[in-house]
Amino acid sequence: MTTTRKAATILRDVGNGKIEFPGATVPDRLRAFAEQFDRRFEKYLAPADDVPVELLEAVRSSALAPGKRVRPYLVMTCCKLVGGKANGAWPVAAAVECVHAFSLIHDDLPALDDDDLRRGLPTCHKKFGEATAILAGDALLALSFELLSRHVRDPALAVKMVTELARASGWAGMIGGELADLLGESHPPELELTRRIHEQKTGALFRSACCLGALAGCADAKTRTRLSRFGQSLGRAFQIADDLLDVSTEANQTGKRVGKDESAGKQSFPRCVGIERARTAAREAVQEAIELLEPFGAQADDLRALAVFVMARDY
Ligand code: IPE
Ligand code: IPE
Ligand code: MG
Ligand code: MG
Ligand code: MG
Repeated sequence: MTTTRKAATILRDVGNGKIEFPGATVPDRLRAFAEQFDRRFEKYLAPADDVPVELLEAVRSSALAPGKRVRPYLVMTCCKLVGGKANGAWPVAAAVECVHAFSLIHDDLPALDDDDLRRGLPTCHKKFGEATAILAGDALLALSFELLSRHVRDPALAVKMVTELARASGWAGMIGGELADLLGESHPPELELTRRIHEQKTGALFRSACCLGALAGCADAKTRTRLSRFGQSLGRAFQIADDLLDVSTEANQTGKRVGKDESAGKQSFPRCVGIERARTAAREAVQEAIELLEPFGAQADDLRALAVFVMARDY
């Protein structure tokens, strides 16, 4: 059987429920993970005397609002897959979620996507005002690096992780992608441009979550590269699915306003190639992701199922 056919078979098997988890679908598993994760995350966001109350409230209410926690799940699952211990990886997972929470707060600001609903709740700037929302995002980005430098015991590993996450979050990664996304509003829809934007604004953090999980589990360079590439393909599928949800669902399903990509003139997959071809592109990205998991055998079934969920999700 060729590698490609294997991935296609897996896609079908997961779809048919042949690859399954005892008593739990992927959304159930993610919810169970989110509970475990949030107990720890909450502690990293605990009140402290020197943190202004308004900032604390804005950070906590945004970061602890009910998100899917896909990125920290990737950190922990990749760490486990390479034989790492969970204990050392929790702060790494929290650091990645801090960057993500920062990205959502700033993405919703009037100067960016100008949204009023996030995770089913008013956006940070709607609730706390624009200045506090900007600063809450800034605080979360800084906190992500504090978590790594404070809690990763091996100093050399901490530096590696900080460099990795900084690069993925910064001007060559998520933040750069957010600007490209905004500049893209003044161009007609173009597939190559959309791909590049997705790669940066979403793919970079997905790739980094997997790379950091592998680093936390002390994986060798070859394994890290493979899992990073898995994350990159998964990120691609995730953002295409996000674009599709914007044109095909209701706000009460996604917890955010829908139909906005069209009205804002965003570079999005459905705007470039239509819904059907966007679905095909998501499927191809998932297939690519699953192929990269081949050397890990059945131990990577959690990641395979997540990959299929990313494409087929309705929230
Ligand atoms: C939303 O990410 C932003 C994108 C990159 C599309 P998620 O869909 O992971 O948001 P939450 O964390 O579940 O709210
Ligand atoms: C945002 O993409 C990606 C981020 C880095 C936050 P979108 O702007 O499409 O995300 P949503 O739809 O607002 O969650
Ligand atoms: Mg945006
Ligand atoms: Mg947005
Ligand atoms: Mg979107």
